[in-house]
Amino acid sequence: MPASLWRIGVWGLLILPALWTIIGLQRGSLGPDPVEALMIASGIWALRLLLLTLAMTPLQGLSGWVWPLTIRRQLGLAAFFYALGHLLVFAVFDQNLDPAAAWREIVEHKAVWLGMLALALLLPLAITSTRGWIRRLGPNWKRLHRLIYPAAILAAIHFGFQVKADLREPLIYGAILTVLLVVRLPRGWQRGSRTPGHTTIS
Ligand code: HEM
Repeated sequence: MPASLWRIGVWGLLILPALWTIIGLQRGSLGPDPVEALMIASGIWALRLLLLTLAMTPLQGLSGWVWPLTIRRQLGLAAFFYALGHLLVFAVFDQNLDPAAAWREIVEHKAVWLGMLALALLLPLAITSTRGWIRRLGPNWKRLHRLIYPAAILAAIHFGFQVKADLREPLIYGAILTVLLVVRLPRGWQRGSRTPGHTTIS
């Protein structure tokens, strides 16, 4: 299949959760608190896509398939867009576009603050996700994109703090994230024992 068709197909799949949520909003089937439902849907998909992005390298290593690496950047970018949508829902519907109220909410609640920090870490990754930036930054591109690790950790902690009652879901996401980070450790150690500056972009 041509690469461009493959990319369009992947974007088509990545947009489905957003479409599904918008249709639910129009039909009035998001429950008694549609704003909360929008916040939860956008936040959970941002986190799921972050974890999927992190799963692509180990999946490629275990299976030998190439396709996980070809969709990794798209998944990361989609995670950023869902997180941005989450922030927009927060600013527009939850805080009624009142910058002072939104700012108070962010600084007064450490959970919201952690989410904001996670999104701030994802911003430079989204901006530099193009081929032009990969070329321009060289080996530093890979170093910069390691910011996805603290961003995912902050996002998972944010989820844990925000969830109202049942902590099981954040714990499951936290466990998956821990596995995805731990499987990278041996590679990190090997890299540490090599001469710096010999990293390649996969
Ligand atoms: C990578 C970034 C982020 C991720 C992955 C994320 C993820 C999540 C998730 C999964 C929830 C649902 C919790 C539940 O089930 O109740 C949530 C809730 C929430 N998030 Fe985020 N979030 C992120 C960034 C942000 C930002 C930037 C803000 C605002 C500045 C924010 C504000 C909130 C608020 C206020 C809630 C509570 C919603 C409610 O229950 O009414 N988050 N977030």
